[in-house]
Amino acid sequence: MESGRTNLKSHLESILFDQSQIRARVAEMGEQITRDFEGEPLTIVAVLQGGALFMADLIREIHLPLEIDSISVASYHGGTESSGTVQFHQTKMPELDGRNVLILDDILDSGRTLSAIRRRLETDCSPKSVRSVVLLSKAISRATPIEADYVGFTVGNEFVVGYGLDYEGRYRNLPMIGVLQSEYISS
Ligand code: IMP
Ligand code: MG
Repeated sequence: MESGRTNLKSHLESILFDQSQIRARVAEMGEQITRDFEGEPLTIVAVLQGGALFMADLIREIHLPLEIDSISVASYHGGTESSGTVQFHQTKMPELDGRNVLILDDILDSGRTLSAIRRRLETDCSPKSVRSVVLLSKAISRATPIEADYVGFTVGNEFVVGYGLDYEGRYRNLPMIGVLQSEYISS
């Protein structure tokens, strides 16, 4: 159904993390980041669109002065498989000179997105340091070996949606994270 009221939650085959689990884990992560960056100039750079919800919740759990910025890339061009290339949508990079940067994404999968962004920020933006935070990390062997410094939850090699994560642009607004029923995935 494209328009009209839809119960998106009913499209899920299973729920991996509900709203209260996400809220509790995000609060713990915020606490950890608060301790680690105390007294340091911090800029959080969210990877759009997927990182938007996590960013909004996480920064309210970080009790420090901080700045936010964003970067727009795509590695999935629809479907459930990574394309293998990372496209940057912007020409102007964030101002990060001398800042401690925390790249924030919804999920770490092949590792291509995080490594490409990390490399690009390090070469173009002269940050003081670059670390990364992801809400989810897939426990797989990565195409590009990289791990995030802060991980909310580890998941298996399955395609998940909700809380920022999409399937073909949809389901980002689901407040929980779950696995889509196969009937909603076009083969
Ligand atoms: P990577 O470059 O393969 O690590 O992919 C990371 C990007 O792919 C993330 O920013 C997500 O947008 C997307 N992605 C990876 N796995 C999933 C998933 O299970 N559901 C939705 N999006 C995903
Ligand atoms: Mg994404």
